[in-house]
Amino acid sequence: MAESLGSLKRTHNCAQLRVEDIEKEVILTGWVQRRRDHGGVIFIDLRDREGITQVVFNPEENSEVHEKAHGIRSEYVLAVKGQVVNRLEGTVNPNLPTGAIEILVSELKILNEAKTPPFMIEDGIDIAENLRLKYRYLDLRRPSVAKGFVMRHRVSTAVRAFLNGQGFLDLETPMLTKSTPEGARDYLVPSRVNPGAFYALPQSPQLFKQMLMVSGFDRYYQIVKCFRDEDLRSDRQPEFTQIDMELSFVDREDVMSLTEAMMKHIFREVLDVDFKESFPVMTYEEAERRFGLDKPDIRFGLEHIDLSGMMKGCGFKVFADVASKGGLVKAINVKGGATFSRKDLDDLTSYVGNYGAKGMAWIKVTESEWQSPIVKFFNDDEIGQIAEKTGAEVGDLLLFGADKPAVVNESLGMLRNELARRLGLVDKGTYSFLWVTDFPLLEFDGQAKRHVAIHHPFTAPLDEDMHLLDSEPGKARSKAYDLVLNGSEIGGGSIRIHQQELQQKIFELLHISEEEASSKFGFLLDALQYGAPPHGGLALGLDRIVMIMSGADSIRDVITFPKTQKASCLMTEAPSTVEPEQLTELNLALNLPKKETT
Ligand code: AMO
Ligand code: AMP
Repeated sequence: MAESLGSLKRTHNCAQLRVEDIEKEVILTGWVQRRRDHGGVIFIDLRDREGITQVVFNPEENSEVHEKAHGIRSEYVLAVKGQVVNRLEGTVNPNLPTGAIEILVSELKILNEAKTPPFMIEDGIDIAENLRLKYRYLDLRRPSVAKGFVMRHRVSTAVRAFLNGQGFLDLETPMLTKSTPEGARDYLVPSRVNPGAFYALPQSPQLFKQMLMVSGFDRYYQIVKCFRDEDLRSDRQPEFTQIDMELSFVDREDVMSLTEAMMKHIFREVLDVDFKESFPVMTYEEAERRFGLDKPDIRFGLEHIDLSGMMKGCGFKVFADVASKGGLVKAINVKGGATFSRKDLDDLTSYVGNYGAKGMAWIKVTESEWQSPIVKFFNDDEIGQIAEKTGAEVGDLLLFGADKPAVVNESLGMLRNELARRLGLVDKGTYSFLWVTDFPLLEFDGQAKRHVAIHHPFTAPLDEDMHLLDSEPGKARSKAYDLVLNGSEIGGGSIRIHQQELQQKIFELLHISEEEASSKFGFLLDALQYGAPPHGGLALGLDRIVMIMSGADSIRDVITFPKTQKASCLMTEAPSTVEPEQLTELNLALNLPKKETT
């Protein structure tokens, strides 16, 4: 039977009591982690979000309370009053902060009963993620899961303290808004009072924060939800949180150094990790050339080696064709990799296949020979050049990719990360930041047959590349910057365009017609004509930062109620159908694809 709390208001949490507290009378509240009946004496591990304390029911001390304790089961909610006592010798648990003491219970209230949970509320056990998400409120009771949220709270507290100290204002922006182009699909919300019209949930507060700069709020931040309808992965959720900032009268070095100081502050406050050196800065061009990705993990080598030059006209037709048609031929030297088995190589070949690679040629350098399916195609001079450029030594494994630059860079870039994982080249618990700058302003979208903005259309070109906008816009670089942590893009931003004519010109380059520009971004083009200050900013992915700091494998682990790969919430079963009347009220009719009949 559930009882009311009455006078049992807790005095301590379940991680707090130590030997110094012996003889104190205390009240604890929490959940029953485990109950053990040791020949009369009943022991219960009482758990709250902070930890566990052992409470004891001894029939010789208090037979009434002991009798009542017989009915207690896992996950019952209790309030207990009792005295802090030393544990008997030999029963001290050195792994528990409260392991030297226990509570001898004199009063017990069973505040609520619990059904047997669908899984043990315990760390270190394997539970199907679907079950965890359906019963997320129980999953969140597990100490290792709860820990991530305590850390998340500490990170956002550190962010606020830092930015408040730097004169930033925390300002909110609308959730029901017009679509902002960040490159993903929008989540739409129908307007009842404006039939046929829709709001979009913001993919980011990008345009609003720029408006706030025009308003004179020269330092803005917000820890804010963003919504993007895109394919989900372990580091992508349909709704996620940004630490969003914008500043006026700054150039990119200002935004970068402020962000860097903030990241250092967060790591010091939350993990007690100090970064003395400045974060390294690398251009996009260098990142792609050496690592194949614009978010390289620089904690290990395995750098890319460009062999395109020497492969033109070589004996292996696949490479020669690619090289002579402007493609890339790159290699990675895996030191000591000659021990890889055939199966390892097959696995890696199918791994790069996921990124569009048509094959993955390899050479094993052994004492006696170069073992490889392709070595027969090369003459001695070509073999000598490969050896020299890759620094191949006995025991090494050379892996090759040849294709269009984008395919080779991405597939060998991901391969490099995969090799590091397999070879154990990175330690969890090491952190390596990197700024990537000088991104191209535009990229050509083959499908749409036009240029699209790499960051977003409000990003300013580099001053020295301004002249390229008319002649070779595809070559112009931008004032955008990304912050990378351990190979994960944790933030991105740019200096913005603050002149109306330049903004108009970029819209033209993007083939956004004057009508479209004025219907979508009219308010921006207007605002830029009323004294817009030079400004720029950045947004950090809070979920990704906490994921990395807490050592989690997925951002789902650090989001209280995350969505599945199919963007659904297994606990609430959202999204769901709605009543026909709701649709009628919104002037909407469904037009669903016909279900296939079998
Ligand atoms: P961007 O689109 O680069 O920039 O986003 C900034 C950061 O947000 C995180 N992020 C995500 N995290 C989880 N799930 C997602 N689906 C997701 N998408 C992005 C990443 C990313 O680096 N308005 C600009 C910022 C600016 O220019 O100031 C913007 O949104 O860590
Ligand atoms: P093949 O001549 O198709 O039998 O290929 C010989 C070797 O070259 C195999 O190991 C293939 O995986 C590899 N290979 C084929 N195409 C490519 C490519 N585009 N890039 C890298 N390796 C390739």
